Amino acid sequence: MVGSDARQAILRYMEHISKREEYPCTIDETEVGSASTSSSLRKRPDKLFIVGRQEMLIGVPKEIKDHEYRVGLVPSSVTELVHHGHSVLIERGAGLGAGISDENYRAAGATLVDEPDRVFGDAALIVKVKEPLANERKKLRRGQVLFTYLHLAPDLQQTKDLMDSRATCIAYETVTSSSGGLPLLTPMSEVAGRLAPQVGASSLEKAQGGRGVLLGGVPGVPPAEVVILGGGVSGTHAATIAVGMGATVTVVDRSADVLRKLSAQFGSQIRTIFSTRDAIAQLVRRVDLLIGAVLVPGAAAPKLITRDMVRTMKPGSVIVDIAIDQGGCSETSRPTTHSNPRYFEEGVVHYCVTNMPSSVARTSTFALNNVTLPFVLLLADRGWEQALRDDPHLRDGLNVHDGEVFCRPVAEAHKLPTSNADDLLAA
Ligand SMILES: NC(=O)c1ccc[n+]([C@@H]2O[C@H](COP(=O)([O-])OP(=O)(O)OC[C@H]3O[C@@H](n4cnc5c(N)ncnc54)[C@H](O)[C@@H]3O)[C@@H](O)[C@H]2O)c1
Repeated sequence: MVGSDARQAILRYMEHISKREEYPCTIDETEVGSASTSSSLRKRPDKLFIVGRQEMLIGVPKEIKDHEYRVGLVPSSVTELVHHGHSVLIERGAGLGAGISDENYRAAGATLVDEPDRVFGDAALIVKVKEPLANERKKLRRGQVLFTYLHLAPDLQQTKDLMDSRATCIAYETVTSSSGGLPLLTPMSEVAGRLAPQVGASSLEKAQGGRGVLLGGVPGVPPAEVVILGGGVSGTHAATIAVGMGATVTVVDRSADVLRKLSAQFGSQIRTIFSTRDAIAQLVRRVDLLIGAVLVPGAAAPKLITRDMVRTMKPGSVIVDIAIDQGGCSETSRPTTHSNPRYFEEGVVHYCVTNMPSSVARTSTFALNNVTLPFVLLLADRGWEQALRDDPHLRDGLNVHDGEVFCRPVAEAHKLPTSNADDLLAA
């Protein structure tokens, strides 16, 4: 236990921090005073002696999207932030869906609060997984930083609400890397890609309205035809699983380099086809399972499948549109939830869940934290402005700040002016 003098000193220090305007911070004193938080208290004195670094209060609310079980920070990320001199507020129960208890967070040094309003009201940096829903957006405010997936290009209302909040909103999916990839999207694309043949296979079952085809076939009966549109991260992982399940797999991409890489990786296990309207129109006529895995970074997904093409598909065939979070790559796609994942259009089963990785929340949460933690630390240690000045890849993540849009594809999708992050940070 921490001695009473030390505890008083900690409380005085926290009171001092809570009065600072740049990082408003309040700590629940009943929590601080309770025996149950002794482990978090034990960690706090370490922070008092870190010189030259500003403490930040980081908040993690419980996700409220339908069947969303992932959580923004795992306990080991909390420990790391506390070690860097920061404080972390976790909404009680936020980690349960990923198998992480409140006690795990408390032991890592977090302070648990009951109300999401406390998290949104007090924290300077909010770390989430999915885009904020309408009532969460109302809680955001000027000067606060939101770090999460946003997918704004197909979502005008969210874009407007985030502009109105005047908060600084940094989107995981547009943070870049020196190798040209999207490092914070990659792990979730890997998960969604690997899930796609799995959910596609069950959607092909009669009970789900599918045409009753077994993905791998059986001796004497051919396997299902799987076509994957987009051979990037999710497309490659979808191909790996579909090949493993014994399907006949074709991958379509508009990049010759991507097709070359796939060909080298899979050899004769898959066919690769260059993306043209004509090629896609021919493929959809004979496909059993079509997986949409295309992406133009930041922008709304290109509509590669027209309604007319869907009309030519076999009754009971299936579209799994992974790209639905960017608006979907079929004219017939619309977002669905884990509660009600499928619907029919033109006799074709559509599975268009926008948060597929949540169904394997534990794997997904840890995979996501592995890649987000370095950026969360950077934002907390340096403050968002210096962090974005220092890291051009994190700067690419800036979508909205103080009522302006900084991500060009998002601004173009909504016919809004684009502001320049370099100008903002130079000012
Ligand atoms: N639904 C979900 O739960 C979920 C989860 C994770 C990722 N996603 C989404 O999956 C999508 C794919 O992500 P990714 O990480 O695999 O992207 P990626 O950038 O790794 O791959 C996209 C591929 O699409 C190709 N492409 C672009 N335009 C094309 C066209 N006109 N024709 C053919 N190919 C084209 C690109 O060349 C690229 O190879 C994104 O929208 C992403 O947000 C969805």
